[in-house]
Amino acid sequence: MHKMLVAGNWKMHGTLSDALAYAEALRPREGVEVAVMPPFPLLHALAEPLAAKGVALGAQNAFYEQKGAFTGEVSPAMLVDAGCRFVILGHSERRHILGESDEVIAKKLAAAWEAGLEPVLCIGELLEEREAGKTEEVLTRQLAILAQFRGEMKPLTIAYEPVWAIGTGKTATPETAEAAHAFVHEELARTFGRDVRVLYGGSVKPENALALMERPGVDGVLVGGASLKAESFNAIIAAGAEAAARKQEEVGA
Ligand code: PGA
Repeated sequence: MHKMLVAGNWKMHGTLSDALAYAEALRPREGVEVAVMPPFPLLHALAEPLAAKGVALGAQNAFYEQKGAFTGEVSPAMLVDAGCRFVILGHSERRHILGESDEVIAKKLAAAWEAGLEPVLCIGELLEEREAGKTEEVLTRQLAILAQFRGEMKPLTIAYEPVWAIGTGKTATPETAEAAHAFVHEELARTFGRDVRVLYGGSVKPENALALMERPGVDGVLVGGASLKAESFNAIIAAGAEAAARKQEEVGA
């Protein structure tokens, strides 16, 4: 069983004063790892306050080189220097708004690992792909970039985020999420040679977080909108702790 992770992706939100108050208000719980992924300019300032709470820091993207003449880019090595443990890669907003390809994402994965980061690799199908019965085909294609790293013991977390559920208020039902997660876990073992933690993402809120996280194969959540306020993120952390305790009981029973 994987340790539950509750991660907050702030996307392009947050000011320094809000971020510091947020870190102060965070309430981590026993049995669940917590990570916060703010925009780049807030990373350095949040590293210490979050570390003091036992909360990990992550970034939302990184470039595939460690330094050089790449105006506007931020390298994995810089993220490590800022105190990051995680980096989100292949988020659907980067794939679909900024045109990031699987090929580029594979280069970013290699660079993140080289710097010592744990990538949170996002995968997920568009609505038309789901409606055309192509969900598994899309997930297989997005996970195929892991084949070249097969057998390497690199730290990795996957986030299954159906694109139709991101920021739309439409969450996958726990049954839909469970089925997709089962497929992703199997595909990981086949492609990467190893199973890893798989988070669910897409309109996760305090009201649906426990029902999703208590499902087998759902090893935590990647939260966008509902991670912006410490109060709702704290409620999701509490749901993660509850789900972890229930799963632990099942294993013990
Ligand atoms: P959302 O975003 O929770 O606002 O749907 C999730 C994500 O994009 O990681």
